[in-house]
Order: sequence, then structure tokens, then C-alpha cells
Amino acid sequence: MTTSSRDGFSTAFGVLVATLGSAVGLGNIWKFPSLTGANGGAGFLLVYLIATLLVGLPVMIAETMLGRAARANAVSTFERVAPAAQHGWKIIGWMGFLAALLILAFYSEVAGWVYAYIFKAIAGDIATTDPQVAGAIFAGLVADPLASLFWQWLVLGITGSIIMLGVAKGIEAVARRLMPLLFILLLILCARSLSLPGAAAGLAFLFSPDLAKITPAVLLTALGLAFFKLSIGMGCMLTYGSYFRADQNIPLTATRVMLADLSVSLLAGIAIFPAVFAFGFEPAAGPSLVFMTIPAVFTAMPGGTLFMTIFFLLTAIASVGAMLSLLEVPVAILSERYRLGRRRASLYTIVLVAVLGMPAALSSSLTADLRLFGLNPFELFDFLSSNLLLPLGGILICLFVGWVYGLPETARQLGNHGALRNSWLVRAVFFLVRFVAPLSIAAVLLHGLKLF
Ligand code: PHE
Repeated sequence: MTTSSRDGFSTAFGVLVATLGSAVGLGNIWKFPSLTGANGGAGFLLVYLIATLLVGLPVMIAETMLGRAARANAVSTFERVAPAAQHGWKIIGWMGFLAALLILAFYSEVAGWVYAYIFKAIAGDIATTDPQVAGAIFAGLVADPLASLFWQWLVLGITGSIIMLGVAKGIEAVARRLMPLLFILLLILCARSLSLPGAAAGLAFLFSPDLAKITPAVLLTALGLAFFKLSIGMGCMLTYGSYFRADQNIPLTATRVMLADLSVSLLAGIAIFPAVFAFGFEPAAGPSLVFMTIPAVFTAMPGGTLFMTIFFLLTAIASVGAMLSLLEVPVAILSERYRLGRRRASLYTIVLVAVLGMPAALSSSLTADLRLFGLNPFELFDFLSSNLLLPLGGILICLFVGWVYGLPETARQLGNHGALRNSWLVRAVFFLVRFVAPLSIAAVLLHGLKLF
């Protein structure tokens, strides 16, 4: 396939919403609030912010840049931008291929529960103010192997059909319609949550830090979340970068996406925590926050059914853009490297995810006792991808850009070949990518995994 006939995003706005669509997802609404709740609130938020600024944003810029420079999938990119003797760097792309499949395996299951909960919310099946009862309903869903697989496959079917349509007609077109809707729904929920009597305790929890709760394991969790949130360290931003327009200002676009993604996370926190506190529930409810605490909290408030339906609809919408970007990594690799054609590459990817997703979907039923390091398949896939593959991929991308690709070429690419006057900014990004990011990722990784 020649460069000119390659699919890509059609407008600058399209680039922005599609990239934001990748960043915004279950990470904002399921992971961010539950991890913040479980790790002490504002202290965790602070560490997460630092990780995002010093590591996340520079890696995102570097990754997107490589993709646009090569105009190729995550593996082939390194054959184009690395010196001839150093094609081994394409291991980054293959790690990304694996990470995408692992993330999709559990992500599609969580998205499936969300779809199921839209219907349960409308039907009034989860209208209980008792978190115990809500917990039992959730346990009933995840313990049912057929229901679990059904919802997961439905999600894969929907996102798979969109991905087949291509980059501009599939990914970009869907993101354009869904992202504005997402913001509207989120603002409605925030207004509702903040207007509840007793909402202030939730805001205090979210915004006043308790630094005592921050351990090395919490640092690794925050770093892993920063990678997961910005869809970096696994070739996803690289693949999207390859569809960026030639005149797109990459540092500016990445910064906007980071800020908008952060806003969605904070708004999700504002939609959830004040309500949780207002009705006297526990914030540190872990991953069950969304499926157990939320139904109880919403049922307790006036207009609960409506707001609960909006909440799950919003979450389902958010998951779509993120899943499309996850699917695009293997789809681009398979279709470009093996000349499969987009339809077949998409089909193979969906089948791979469905197979790998099966043990994850059945983690509360048939595969519950299948444990490695004490984790069931669902937890293992999450841990391996977020806390291991993404940070490792991040280190390798930094080392490649900082020590092989070099400053002059980075400045040319990020300055759009002289069209942008941003050399001081590029120097700052390059410094972070060359020294600060790889060293801090390595330190957090080794500490968090208790290796020193
Ligand atoms: N950023 C997405 C989210 O927050 C998840 C994701 C991770 C998407 C990695 C693509 C790549 O839900």
C-alpha cells in the first residue's frame, strides 16, 4: 500500500476527537474513580498528575511523532525509522500487539457488563439502596458463563463492525458523534451529584491529599493508570499518529487530549464521590464501585432510574472509542504486514480477542480457580498489561527516541519541518523523554514489583 492511498483522519478536529476517543474510556469512569477511592483519594490523584505530566505527556508526544514520521503500523514503523542494523526495535510493536489483545480481553468484558447494566437500569432490576443486594445482583451476572460471554461478544461485534469501516469512515465518524454527547451526559450527572445535600465531603475526599497512603505499589498503580489513560506504551498512539495530518501540531494536540482526558476523569470523580458520600456509602469499594455502589447511590436519589441509565449509557459510549483504538493496533499490523485487507484483519483480531477474552469473561465462574501469582485471568491480564507491558513499552519508546532517533530529527518532526516555531518546547520534551521518563518509569517499576 502506498502512502498516498493510506486511510487517515480527515480534519484537524477529527484527529482531536478520535485521539480523545481513544484516551477517554473505562479508564476514566471505572478505573480512575475506583483506584482513587481505594488508594486514599487526593494523594493518589496528585501522584497520578505528576506521572501524567512528567512521563505520560512526553511519551504520548514521542509515540505519536514516530507513527506520523513512518506512516505505518506499530511494528513496521520501527523498520522505517530505525537505522538498518537496528530493526530489533520493532519488538515494541509486537509487545503492543500483545498488550492490545490482553487489554481487550478484560476491557470487552467490563464494557459488556456496562451494556447489560443499561438494560438493568431501565428495567429497574438494580433499583436497590442496599450495596449488599446490588453486590449479589452483580455477582449473579458475572457468575453466569453464558451471560458473560454473550455481553462480551455483543461488544466485540459492535466495535468490530465499526473498525471494519476504516479509519475516517469508522473510527473518526463515530468519535465525532459520540464525544460531544459524552460531555453533555457527564455534565448532567455532575450537576445532579453536586446538588445533593452533603456533597462537600465527596469533594474534600477527591481534593485534599493524604500523603501517608502513598506506597511504592501505589506509585506503580498511578503510573500504570497514567499509561492506560493516555493509551500509551503499546503502539496505540503510534498507530493513531500514523493517521495524523501532516500539518497537525503534535505537542499541542497531545496536550489538549491529555487535559480533556483529565477533565473527564475529574468530572467522573465529581459525578461519583459527592453522591457516594451524600448517601453514606464507602468510597474505597474497589472495582465494584461502578457495579455495586453506583446502583445503590443512584437508587437513593430522586430521579435515580433516569440518572442511573444516563450513567451506564455514558460509560458504554466512552468504552467504544477506546476499544476502537485498541483494535486498530492489531488490525493495522495484520492488514499492512500480511496484506490481509481490512475486513479479514478485523475478523482475525476479533476472533483472537474472543478466544483470549474467554478466560477473562469466565473469571468469576469456570476459570475462577485458574490463578497465577494469586490473580485470576481477568486480574492477571489487567496487571500484565497496565503495570508491566505498558510501562516497559514506554521505557523502550523513550530509549529509542532519546538515544537512537535523536534531537535533530525529533525537532524536525515535531516542528513540522520548520513550519512551527517550537524548538524550546521540543528540547524540554526531548529532555524528559531521554532522561526523566525512562529513569522514573524504571524506578517505579522495580520498586512496585518489589525488585529492589
Ligand atoms: N485509554 C483507554 C481508557 O482510559 C484505554 C486504552 C488503553 C485504550 C490503551 C487504548 C490503549 O479507557
